[in-house]
Order: sequence, then C-alpha cells, then structure tokens
Amino acid sequence: MNVVVTGGAGFIGSHLVDRLLADGHAVTVLDNLSTGRAANLAAHLGHPRLRFLRGSILDATLVDAVMSGTDVVYHLAAAVGVGHVVKDPLWTAVTNAHGTEIVLEHARARGARVVFASTSEIYGTSDALPYREDGPRVLGPTWIHRWSYSTAKALGEHLCFAHAERGLAVSIVRYFNTYGPRMDPAGYGSVVARFVSQALDGAPLTVHGDGAQARCFTFVSETVDATVRAGTLDAAIGQVFNVGSPFHSTIGDLARLIIELTGSGSTVTHIDHAAVYGEGFADTRTRVPDVSKIAARLGWQPTIPLREGLARVIAERRASEAR
Ligand SMILES: NC(=O)c1ccc[n+]([C@@H]2O[C@H](COP(=O)([O-])OP(=O)(O)OC[C@H]3O[C@@H](n4cnc5c(N)ncnc54)[C@H](O)[C@@H]3O)[C@@H](O)[C@H]2O)c1
Repeated sequence: MNVVVTGGAGFIGSHLVDRLLADGHAVTVLDNLSTGRAANLAAHLGHPRLRFLRGSILDATLVDAVMSGTDVVYHLAAAVGVGHVVKDPLWTAVTNAHGTEIVLEHARARGARVVFASTSEIYGTSDALPYREDGPRVLGPTWIHRWSYSTAKALGEHLCFAHAERGLAVSIVRYFNTYGPRMDPAGYGSVVARFVSQALDGAPLTVHGDGAQARCFTFVSETVDATVRAGTLDAAIGQVFNVGSPFHSTIGDLARLIIELTGSGSTVTHIDHAAVYGEGFADTRTRVPDVSKIAARLGWQPTIPLREGLARVIAERRASEAR
C-alpha cells in the first residue's frame, strides 16, 4: 500500500514508519521537524520505499499533493506535550484543529483511509474509571491553556466523524502514555524519558506533585501495533479506541523502579505543579483505559510489562550514549 505518516519523524511516528516499511508498504513522511527529528528515521536513510517531505500539515497545497495515490494516512502530526502547549497555546490550537481539518479534507477528496491519533487527555479530569470510549469528558476553564490540547484533539475527533458522514473511512486511536526508545525528554509522556536521563546522570528524579498520581504506560511497539490494526481492519472503520496498558503505576513508583533498574544512586525530589506549568494547572489523579473494545474488535492486547519496557529504554539510552 501507499501510506502517509504525518508526524512520521516524531517519537511514535518513527516507530510506526519502522513497522510499515517492515510490512512492505511505500511510506511518505510529512513532518516539519518542530518536535520530531530526522535522526529518528536515520536507520532508513536511502530506503527505496521511504520518502521524507519536510513540510507542514497547514500547507493545504502540499497536503493535497501528498494524498494523491495514497491508500492510508496515519495522522500523528500535532503540537504535543503539556509543557509545549502551555508555552505556546496558539500553536497547539492551530496545528491540532486546523491542521487536522486540512488532512481530513484532502484525504477524503483523494479517497484515502485515515487513522487519527487522539489522546487520553480527551477525558480530562474525569473520575469515571476505567475510561470507556463513550465516557464523560471533564475539562477546566478555557483560560487554562492546558485544556486547549484536549479541546483541539476533541475537535479533531468531531471533524473525523463529520467527514465520515461524507464518506471518509476513518478510525480514531486515543493513546495513553506511550514510552520507548527515541522519546524526547522534553516532549509528551516525557516523564519516563526525563526520569531515565536523570537516573543515568545521577541527578535527583523530579516528581511533579506528590507522586501519587497514576498513569498507564504503554510500550511504543504495542501502540504502533494497535495503530496499524486501526488502519487496516474493517472493524475499525468509524470507531474510536482507547490504546493503553490497563495496568497503572504511580509516578512515585515509576521513579523508584527506574532508580532500581538503572542501579542509580539518585534520590527523588518533588516539585509543585504550579512551579512547572503555572497557576491553575489541574492534574489528573488516575488515568486508566478500558481496553475491552479494542480487544474485542481488533484483537489487540498489550503484553509488555513496564519493567521489561523500561529495561529496553535504559539499554537503548546506554547504547546511544556509548556511540
Ligand atoms: N506520546 C504519547 O504518549 C501520546 C499520548 C497521546 C497522544 N499522542 C499523540 O500521538 C501523536 C504523536 O505523538 P509523539 O509522542 O510521537 O510526539 P512527537 O512530538 O514526537 O510527534 C509529533 C510530530 O509531529 C510533527 N509536527 C508538529 N507540527 C507539525 C506540522 N504542522 N506539520 C507537520 N508535522 C508536524 C513534529 O515535528 C513531530 O515529529 C500526536 O498526535 C500526539 O498528540 C501521543
């Protein structure tokens, strides 16, 4: 198949490209390298089935040209990461809402199927655990920039369903914290990357808040596998799926586990959320997906334990530092 990956030079996108090339597809990456890195695709330099286009999803002419002859579009390009979002809320809103509209519009016009990468942030601070795809969304006020990410991704989902009514074959995947090699320590889900860097440097691991907040960490190859199923199986069309490990860990436990696995002498310190993200930041205490829908419809079930996935990340970081 001819496949497009927007955001294909990013963390998850580059792992998706690895998988799609291995599966024999011809892959076009459209990425403006705002948070992604060309180095993430270095292993495929000169690959005859990979085309890399440095450009923006906001460039409608370019997007239209890219969609021509495309079978499936994996739309991962986005302004990502609470830190980035809080710093530049306009970039978040425009990229994630307007950029998604451009991608959907031109994919539909060219008859391509689409997978849209959404997020567990959609659920906000809802305490209806575990989160079901049809569950409530609980968000804070609009002047707290953090919520613009959730809101723009939700608008992206609305646009997907609206285009579906006009014939677009589209599926939505809501990623919960994905981790793995190539994570940007400054990016989204960066808590694992940050802790690993700090532990390997012997620096204190900085936990935001009390560390009792819990998240479900999903190894990137499993996130990619769910994404590919969403882009290829008929049962995925017109549907939205949670993609995340159903096992949660507190951030404090995560820090201690990383210290243990690295054999580091680091300690753990706590920083107030407000000091990092500004006043009014609302943290979600516990975020756990209900993954029964994706298991039943697409046969996807994550199996890599956190300890094993973290050991792989640490090994990769050590290897890249030794190079
Ligand atoms: N990492 C996670 O745990 C997680 C969780 C929930 C949702 N997501 C979603 O998954 C997707 C991938 O996230 P990631 O963690 O790999 O982040 P990432 O920052 O590594 O990837 C995003 C990519 O999009 C590119 N990009 C940004 N704006 C662009 C534009 N205007 N035009 C073209 N490319 C542009 C960036 O350069 C980057 O390569 C995003 O849509 C994100 O919202 C990720």
